[in-house]
Amino acid sequence: MPDITRRTVLTLGAALGFAGVASPTAAWSWPSTGSVLGSGSGTDPQWVWDDDIDRIMADIIDGGQVPAVNHAMRNWVYNSQSVPSGLPSELRTFLQGANRLPSWADIWKLRRAADFNRRKDTYLFLIYGIGGGIMSTVIPREARSVYWSKGGADMQDRAAKTFSFGYDLSDIDAFEWTGEFLVTSNRTRMVHAAVRHMLPQSPHWQASGHDEQIPISNHDILVTFHSTGTFAHKKLKEWGVPMSNADQDAFLHSWQVALHMLGVRDEYIPATWADAHAQADQILTPKLAWTPEGQELAEVLLGLTAQVDLGVTRGFLNEFVRYQLGDEVGDWLGLERDPASEVIIREGWPLYIAFRESLIPIMPANFYLFDQFVRALAMAFLNKGTSPTTTMITIPDMNRPT
Ligand code: HEM
Repeated sequence: MPDITRRTVLTLGAALGFAGVASPTAAWSWPSTGSVLGSGSGTDPQWVWDDDIDRIMADIIDGGQVPAVNHAMRNWVYNSQSVPSGLPSELRTFLQGANRLPSWADIWKLRRAADFNRRKDTYLFLIYGIGGGIMSTVIPREARSVYWSKGGADMQDRAAKTFSFGYDLSDIDAFEWTGEFLVTSNRTRMVHAAVRHMLPQSPHWQASGHDEQIPISNHDILVTFHSTGTFAHKKLKEWGVPMSNADQDAFLHSWQVALHMLGVRDEYIPATWADAHAQADQILTPKLAWTPEGQELAEVLLGLTAQVDLGVTRGFLNEFVRYQLGDEVGDWLGLERDPASEVIIREGWPLYIAFRESLIPIMPANFYLFDQFVRALAMAFLNKGTSPTTTMITIPDMNRPT
């Protein structure tokens, strides 16, 4: 089992594009002046959860009402729909308050973000799917909670549901009346609240060496944001993908709104990319480590694409993980080397980007290989290899049994 030392943190930080200088146990010192609120209480977000919905979901679970709640929500999909009338009244009242954009949301920026997501969807898909997806398996708190919650037993379904979130957030009408993101984020908020109540009752999670009494704090959600949104921003810049300042700002804004919708307090939501990267240096890189749960989750996730026969080999996938996350993470997860694929990716990926972005006139030799790769991932993650549609998020009623 690899150890996390200061040197490991530094090399990891470099590989991922973050500074990674804080110690794994550093106290919270990110300044709330860098938040969308501009000020804060100073409370460490590690001790902040989502009190109202946590209590409501706990009552629903203890009262055996989860099937009825899922049933009442079965047709609740679009932002334009009102909160289903068949829900328990406390939940309904909560959702009526939560099912709207924050007052500081800027619809023009959100529209620009939607357009940016459409223009850069190929890269974002690979960064979220491979970079963020596999990085989540080396974030111990996330790996342990995902593994020991209900969805951990069926990672294909779980991956498809998680991709619904990314898909609905990136969709062209994500925040419009015709979009789905308000509903998807509220469903996710409810799932997280359910997990906070149920996971501490799992003997497996209790025995896993976890280091928090209640999972999915505001701090944990911010870590996940940095392993996806902030990581994407870093990689796009590193790969030389052209992005205007307005595009970058809009992209961040869609994540700021997403974090708010997931119950993160405004005092922790970074106001600028510089603030976000500073926060990531402090809380993401020092947290990365190997766990047996994460190892197994990574194997399952990487195995998913093998089921979709579009000519993508496991060796190619392994090397793409290493290309994004570095050899340290690749070695932790024991990803076998494939020297031929390593060269194709190292030399071909920058050319693929350059051609797609009209920075070079001649189509590179491996252009279609990369295109197939993205398609294979989409098919594997989105809907069990059958069609590119999303899977509805429902409230779990139990933990992973074994
Ligand atoms: C469920 C997204 C942060 C643990 C979900 C689901 C989505 C999602 C879409 C629903 C999928 C499903 O029901 O299977 C996100 C996003 C996050 C975030 C966008 C932050 C930006 C976290 C963190 C943790 C976590 C920090 C743990 C430390 C879980 C667990 C489930 C879940 C355990 C339930 C799995 C199940 O039993 O079905 N999340 N999540 N999530 N999430 Fe998160």
